[in-house]
Amino acid sequence: MELSERADILVQSLPYIQRYNNKIIVVKYGGNAMVSKELQETVISDIVMMKCVGMKPVVVHGGGPDITEFMKKIGEETTFINGLRVTDENAIKIVQMVLGGKVNKNLVSMIEKAGGKAVGLCGMDGSLLKAKKHVNSDNVDLGFVGDITSVNTDILKTVLDSDYIPVVGSIALGEDNDCLYNINADNCASKIAAALKAEKLILLTDVPGVLKTPGDASSLISTLRLHEIPKLLSENVIKGGMIPKIDCCVEAVRMGVERSYVIDGRIPHSMLLEILSDEGIGTMIY
Ligand SMILES: Nc1ncnc2c1ncn2[C@@H]1O[C@H](COP(=O)(O)OP(=O)(O)OP(=O)(O)O)[C@@H](O)[C@H]1O
Ligand SMILES: [Mg+2]
Repeated sequence: MELSERADILVQSLPYIQRYNNKIIVVKYGGNAMVSKELQETVISDIVMMKCVGMKPVVVHGGGPDITEFMKKIGEETTFINGLRVTDENAIKIVQMVLGGKVNKNLVSMIEKAGGKAVGLCGMDGSLLKAKKHVNSDNVDLGFVGDITSVNTDILKTVLDSDYIPVVGSIALGEDNDCLYNINADNCASKIAAALKAEKLILLTDVPGVLKTPGDASSLISTLRLHEIPKLLSENVIKGGMIPKIDCCVEAVRMGVERSYVIDGRIPHSMLLEILSDEGIGTMIY
């Protein structure tokens, strides 16, 4: 690339860089979007880039496939109900090890390797997240699956003010500090985005966005207004893991986050494409 081209591209990005200067952008990086080492590295370099040009990214992660793999190793099957993992006493121990350990520290290491500064946290650190047992609408017991009841942003603000990128694993202590809960990472991300009054919530996943016909990328719904969503849920267009995702986008927007996005984490630099252009990719909920 010619040097002048590089300069052109930077100058074209200036309005977006200015728009998001000092703004908090919460990014949820799910297990299913973490398909390869190379892709993980491009996602991480995008996050480091966002930080370098003055944005304040906060990373929230799940770790679905890793948890399922470890469950298999101890001979346990995994069941999902409406996109939420049924979590028994053995599973919550694995969830803590995988989310608080392997996945969290991998992401922190990758950010550091890419030249960024990161601090790994879980809901337990600094009482960041408190939760209560999730009650399913069909009254099915999901075990140690929780819903977030409060977010204490003190530790996040301390980390952000010190110029680190917080990386948050989606587990939380119960309100009485009695047990741990596995929290859907989309849910953590939206609660954190709302509490931090973030500018954007970006959910990276393994599909192009919300699709009208599952599996057909050309049926992508680019923009969704809040009032259009109940119909898509009742018609079963939005299913499985997309249910908590969309619920969370809706909640974040209702709580004051202007725009939430579901975008394809498998497309190289999808986040930068979203942030540094007017076109956008994926589905925007507003
Ligand atoms: N209308 C829809 N459009 C697109 N995807 C849909 C739709 N309905 C259901 N899905 C499913 O939702 C899945 C995304 O949610 P899923 O929970 O599997 O991934 P994730 O949240 O990115 O990862 P993790 O749960 O590990 O953090 C897609 O892979 C797809 O199978
Ligand atoms: Mg999910």
